[in-house]
Amino acid sequence: MSRIAVVPGSFDPVTLGHIDVIGRAAGLFDQVHVLVVHNPDKAALLPIAQRVSLIEQSIRDAGLPTNILVTSWSMGLLVDYCTDVGATVLVKGIRSQIDVAYETPMAIVNRNLAGVETVFLLPNPEHAHVSSSLVRQVAALGGDVSPYVPRSVAQYLQHP
Ligand code: PNS
Repeated sequence: MSRIAVVPGSFDPVTLGHIDVIGRAAGLFDQVHVLVVHNPDKAALLPIAQRVSLIEQSIRDAGLPTNILVTSWSMGLLVDYCTDVGATVLVKGIRSQIDVAYETPMAIVNRNLAGVETVFLLPNPEHAHVSSSLVRQVAALGGDVSPYVPRSVAQYLQHP
């Protein structure tokens, strides 16, 4: 049986930490769906289609395996997408105890809703301080985001 995992997130924009986790997931599962989801709790910087395109470009540039599909979802529960595509696992990157506290309730609710388990992966510690919200803030104030994001994202943020 082919094991499909979904890596969901806002990816606004995708960071080097995200790419690290996506690459690790691709090594563990037969297929990985990177799913861009609108998070109503966060003010968006990039349109969803642009986020998808930047993730695709970043995956190509990083030379990640070809078992990764990038798409978006706006039609309801995350677990509905999982059920539709036959995915049994969600993958989340964990940088700190703060992430554990944020992710744990969602993981339990998603398991209760549809039996979808969540696997937490640890990114390379060099990315432990990187977040999309920090990147958005630095970019908005004219700072250099290139240490934190793939090259295509840094270029896009400089010249949208
Ligand atoms: O990158 P983010 O913003 O931390 O990602 C959060 C996200 C999009 C994964 C989360 O908001 C989510 O799972 N949204 C889907 C809505 C849903 O299914 N909610 C109920 C179960 S938690």
